[in-house]
Amino acid sequence: MKLRSIQLVSFLLTLFLASTLIGCSLEKKQTLGFQNFYPGKLWSDADSVHINAHGGGILYYDNTYYWFGEHKSAHTSSAQVGVNCYSSTDLYNWKHEGVALSVNDSVGSDIEACCVMERPKVIYNAETQQFVLYFHLELKGKGYSAAHVGIAISDKVTGPYTYLRSLRPNPGIWPQNMKGEQQTSTITTDNFSAWWTEEWMQAVKDGLFVRRDFEGGQMSRDMTLFVDDDGKAYHIFASEENLTLHIAELSDDYLSYTGTYIRVAPGGHNEAPAIFKKNGKYFMITSGCTGWDPNAARLFSAESIWGPWTQHPNPCVGPDADLTFHSQSTYILPVAGKDDAFIFMADRWTPKKPIEASYIWLPIQFENGLPVLKWQDQWDLSVFNETK
Ligand code: GAL
Repeated sequence: MKLRSIQLVSFLLTLFLASTLIGCSLEKKQTLGFQNFYPGKLWSDADSVHINAHGGGILYYDNTYYWFGEHKSAHTSSAQVGVNCYSSTDLYNWKHEGVALSVNDSVGSDIEACCVMERPKVIYNAETQQFVLYFHLELKGKGYSAAHVGIAISDKVTGPYTYLRSLRPNPGIWPQNMKGEQQTSTITTDNFSAWWTEEWMQAVKDGLFVRRDFEGGQMSRDMTLFVDDDGKAYHIFASEENLTLHIAELSDDYLSYTGTYIRVAPGGHNEAPAIFKKNGKYFMITSGCTGWDPNAARLFSAESIWGPWTQHPNPCVGPDADLTFHSQSTYILPVAGKDDAFIFMADRWTPKKPIEASYIWLPIQFENGLPVLKWQDQWDLSVFNETK
């Protein structure tokens, strides 16, 4: 009898100790949250909901990262809600701050629900103290034919943002690097009964679509924004039927264009541009144009934002490098407070269930002065201490 009660007491004691230990470790986990990136896995926000900020970009402001991205719903990629905003101080754990720019209820509005709002990027203008949001806008029911950029502003980083207008950039202005004979050429799209022939491609390289769209402004689809060290901002976008990228300088208030712009890789069929600057040199990673399906990333570098831009081999190496690890670039984030620390951000699209698309974040490594991307199942910011 005595033995039995000793056994019972020690059993209860063990049970108590074990539950206390489990309780402690659970509590620790809950307070600490994520301490790693898990590329391609579901990524829960503070409310335990998969982060919904696709085709996104990040603004670092007041010691906090703000992630803006497309809200995607379960069955359609068109905009039902708008641009989502999340905040974080450690990059692993994100709090949903709400919808930064909402779709509009009024019929006929540019940003009416069911329009397309893609690849939103926010920059901060220190002069005007305004947050400026650019995104790719396609009008409701018009497929991808509008090829507009939408612009919105807010006094508060998380919004709500006020929609200003949408447009095609630089009407009536020639790119800096388009030659006189290319500007005056009389070859038009009517000269070609078929696309993708050798002659057609040569004409594209020589500015066929720039001339076609000269009056109304240049097409603007996949896009990013970049603020240089001197505070000048640039809008970088897939133009000319997605065949040529344009880099266009923005006005001092970031709300319009100065009219200075260049074409990059004419006829190269690049989209999903993401750019960063390291030691005075500009690097740009893009994708090819295969819709939601992944393809091999492309890498460019330049000593000046105005080029010339040189193309290098695919920066991805290892298994699935030819598919950018089943993803498409969206942004390159400089990590605050760390030198030469850049995170490549990409989307692994799931067009049948857009809301489930996951995020591929990878640290950019450098080999022979060029960015290199290698797959990691899991990683944390300490890699930047090692790879400096
Ligand atoms: C991709 C583009 C995405 C989206 C998609 C629509 O090529 O990068 O942002 O526009 O096409 O098919």
